[in-house]
Amino acid sequence: MKVAAVDFLRSAARAADFPRDPLAQIAFVGRSNVGKSSLINALVKKPAARTSAAPGKTRLINLYAITLAPGAAIERFYLVDLPGYGYARGGEASQDAFEVLTREYFACPPGGRHGASRHGEPLGPTAVLQLVDIRHPGLPQDVAAHGWLATQDRPHAVIATKSDKLSRAERSRALQTWKNSLNNTPVLPVSAASGEGMEDLWTLIVRLLTARP
Ligand code: GTP
Ligand code: MG
Repeated sequence: MKVAAVDFLRSAARAADFPRDPLAQIAFVGRSNVGKSSLINALVKKPAARTSAAPGKTRLINLYAITLAPGAAIERFYLVDLPGYGYARGGEASQDAFEVLTREYFACPPGGRHGASRHGEPLGPTAVLQLVDIRHPGLPQDVAAHGWLATQDRPHAVIATKSDKLSRAERSRALQTWKNSLNNTPVLPVSAASGEGMEDLWTLIVRLLTARP
């Protein structure tokens, strides 16, 4: 996919900071350190999002406006980098604060739909990508998050990150175990490091964002 422009919109700390314009929004959710920010950078081929070997790097909801080259099925939308779950930054109270922000975001009506934000209210995710680490199939936190996402009534899909860390044989075993632990949900392997799966992931993003509600 040819990306024409990546514009950082802002870091959202509260619902009032979420977009109110009609662009669709694709949210990247997953455990802290799973590779959400790295995957965003690999997709847009720019160091747009901050990454780190220390978990808990992304503390706010970071919004990037993406413009695709002419001819794509969707011209402009937001890539949304959420704080990771499963890492208590500075104790339980602060962990809750991140969950509160994520819940507030999902409580907003989806952006990108016809008539979205007629009343100028903040808008939430149109579609969701859940990222899981290919090396740790069936982690209870991920399975629980998947169950919660299924109740959110927005198109969503599962991506297995860091595929470069496994051999070919280990990879297909891990993908099968992931699929089994998520009620047979297909899981797309990607690697921000090697670039594996980037075109398939773009195709998936465009499909999720243009899916009929
Ligand atoms: P939080 O912001 O803490 O929630 O983390 P995150 O999910 O945004 O993870 P981030 O992209 O910061 O990556 C975490 C670590 O994993 C970094 O050290 C990355 O270099 C590494 N990493 C991310 N993607 C890949 C990948 O595809 N392959 C390999 N080998 N390492 C990766
Ligand atoms: Mg991050």
